[in-house]
Amino acid sequence: MHSYKELGLVSTKEMYAKAIKGQYAIPGYNFNNMEQLQAIITACIETKSPVILQVSSGARKYANQILLMYMAKGAMEMVKNSGVKLPVALHLDHGDTYELCVSCVETGFSSVMIDGSGHSFKENIELTKKVVAYAHAHDVTVEGELGVLAGIEDEVSHETTHYTRPEEVEEFVAKTGVDSLAISIGTSHGAYKFKVKPGEEVPPLRFDILEQVEKKLPGFPIVLHGASSVMPQYVEMINKYGGKMENAVGVPEDQLRRAAKSAVCKINIDSDGRLAMTAKIREVFALNPKEFDPRKYLGPAREELVKMYKHKNENVLGSAGKA
Ligand code: G3H
Ligand code: 13P
Ligand code: ZN
Repeated sequence: MHSYKELGLVSTKEMYAKAIKGQYAIPGYNFNNMEQLQAIITACIETKSPVILQVSSGARKYANQILLMYMAKGAMEMVKNSGVKLPVALHLDHGDTYELCVSCVETGFSSVMIDGSGHSFKENIELTKKVVAYAHAHDVTVEGELGVLAGIEDEVSHETTHYTRPEEVEEFVAKTGVDSLAISIGTSHGAYKFKVKPGEEVPPLRFDILEQVEKKLPGFPIVLHGASSVMPQYVEMINKYGGKMENAVGVPEDQLRRAAKSAVCKINIDSDGRLAMTAKIREVFALNPKEFDPRKYLGPAREELVKMYKHKNENVLGSAGKA
């Protein structure tokens, strides 16, 4: 058993309490490799932003669970060395079984998500409650989910969205004991979030549902998944340098800013990182076709990621300066 406390990490409890009061959102950034982790940590040190490092079960398999734990430990050493006091959580994104959540708690995670949104309401409660009992015994926080987001959620793929039913949230939170709740208000995972023609506006998020949830759960931390903006400059770069991403569109940043000022205190961003990295790598290859040193394309990609994460912290989530 390796407790997250040994690694210098914290749970999400205090971060959320501060974010709710301060009307900003903590970034939940996914990573799979060293360059992404370096970029997230560098951007958060430079902007003095608290951060939740997210690992999906796919990422855990890709990077190796033991290496991952030591990567998180290394990241915390990097933070310590910077002289900036940064609260950092290591979070399982879209955990789908009790066993996976237990394994993450045993290997240094300070927070887990149990995504029972594909189950019936009753089964979701049972599964989430079981995870909460185990996690809380180890001081680890738990995120649950009600409502279904369209798109790919790691190994769970949903074709259609089911908005969260505000009338269910109180019972879910009371019966499970979760520390935060992911809800569905019109976002979805991936780079193709809305079916709109070029130039057409994307439909607004369902802020009415969010407001009803806030009324039922005053002061309770709400999480927004699928919150990449699919930044047009990266989609353009990808297409310019040989990629083919037609009609890729995300959530406008002004809507995310509005959400961050409400009960939403964690905003999940993965796709924007993937796009920034891919765009830069494509550019380097297109402009320098002879290049074959990975540092020469992963390095610029990492720099682009730092820029992108700093922008999110400063201009979208409002988490800059809140460490
Ligand atoms: O919500 C899904 C995250 O973007 C993780 O994606 O399962 O491909 O690592 P992944
Ligand atoms: P995006 O695909 O919009 O980045 O969403 C990421 C996410 O919700 C991770 O859980
Ligand atoms: Zn998600």
